[in-house]
Amino acid sequence: MSALLRGVLLYGEGDPVDVLVEDGVIARIGADLPAEGVEVIEAQGKVLLPGFVDLHTHLREPGREDTETIATGSAAAALGGYTAVFAMANTDPVADTQLVVEHVWRRGQEAGLVDVHPVGAVTVGLKGEKLAELGTMARSAAGVRVFSDDGHCVHDPLLMRRALEYSKALDAVIAQHAEEPRLTVGAQANEGEVASRLGLAGWPAVAEESIVARDCLLAKHTGGRLHVCHVSTTGTVDVLRWAKARGTGVSAEVTPHHLLLTDELLASYDPVNKVNPPLRTSVDVQALRAALAEGIVDCVATDHAPHAPQDKDCEWSSARPGMLGLQTALSVVAQTMVITELLDWRGVARVMSERPAQIAGLPDQGRPLAEGEPANLALVDPDARWTVRGADFASISDNTPFEGMELPARVVLTMLRGRITAHEGKVCG
Ligand code: DOR
Ligand code: ZN
Repeated sequence: MSALLRGVLLYGEGDPVDVLVEDGVIARIGADLPAEGVEVIEAQGKVLLPGFVDLHTHLREPGREDTETIATGSAAAALGGYTAVFAMANTDPVADTQLVVEHVWRRGQEAGLVDVHPVGAVTVGLKGEKLAELGTMARSAAGVRVFSDDGHCVHDPLLMRRALEYSKALDAVIAQHAEEPRLTVGAQANEGEVASRLGLAGWPAVAEESIVARDCLLAKHTGGRLHVCHVSTTGTVDVLRWAKARGTGVSAEVTPHHLLLTDELLASYDPVNKVNPPLRTSVDVQALRAALAEGIVDCVATDHAPHAPQDKDCEWSSARPGMLGLQTALSVVAQTMVITELLDWRGVARVMSERPAQIAGLPDQGRPLAEGEPANLALVDPDARWTVRGADFASISDNTPFEGMELPARVVLTMLRGRITAHEGKVCG
């Protein structure tokens, strides 16, 4: 199949050009390319970016197919401009064996909308007691290169040390959910003024920062590769800055919700705003935006976390933490980083596509928009404004904290290896 994208702005820059996609690659870029025999997509004024890569997605299959499946999560990803996602290991059964990671990989291929890369668990059953068989998962057909116990912290320093040593041998990365569990027993909300006012047990920033500091030291000591999941505090940014300056093998992600929302929202006691790590203060939000712009935080990852109504529409303390992210990520990044002039569209390509692809070692994602490169693409309408309706999402669940918000910019087309996977809000399978 061939397609011609007419009049796009590459990275939102320069004069409009036509982009011819043929046999899965960008065949030609130029002015007024001939359109005979190809599907023409009128795209004047639209911004062309490399397809997005999400290092942190919960797809809930196997085990909680009532909340999301690999097929429905893939559809949400395609609609959000993603061409690759990393499916977190906290499924049931846990993705801690060759069998499970190969199953997830195969199911992703069957859905065919986005490359679904399974994340392997670091420890057996996410229990934090014994290392899982990282080598077997790495050598499996799924070729696992990202390992994480996300949802749980690998808090035993000896296990973390060993995992980082393995990461070196396997050319992989250990993605840590940094939360010292002894400091968050019973915790419900960011420790601070808002939690005290509402009478919610505090979740201190230092629970995250102390683990990030420890793991940066371990990464430096072992020469392994650490990736810090969902950075949420100013202090973590300070630690990352220090660790990177001394040549530590560390990268980090921030979620769209931590770039936009604060703990002030908790006054409603609506559990849609409950998430782990918790929403922090506006000071933290500003620090995270600045760190992403500067590159101290490398990339945006959604932590897309679908939950069933019975697990969200309940009392705050018994609600599950997590929020949807795949179909709103680009718009929230536009709102927090582009409109604020902290990033231009080239910067968005860096934090949503290029850096995550590099961190996970994906050779054919996050590539430059140039002739001969694979046609993994996201086309964005920078002038769109739209109102978020969770019920309209491709996800089975609808737990979006952005419900009813008007957001800027929207993905209008996604291509995976030259095949259109989403167009004008519809999945093309
Ligand atoms: O809010 C969260 N939800 N944070 C996590 O670490 C796990 C995730 C989930 O699986 O629901
Ligand atoms: Zn997590």
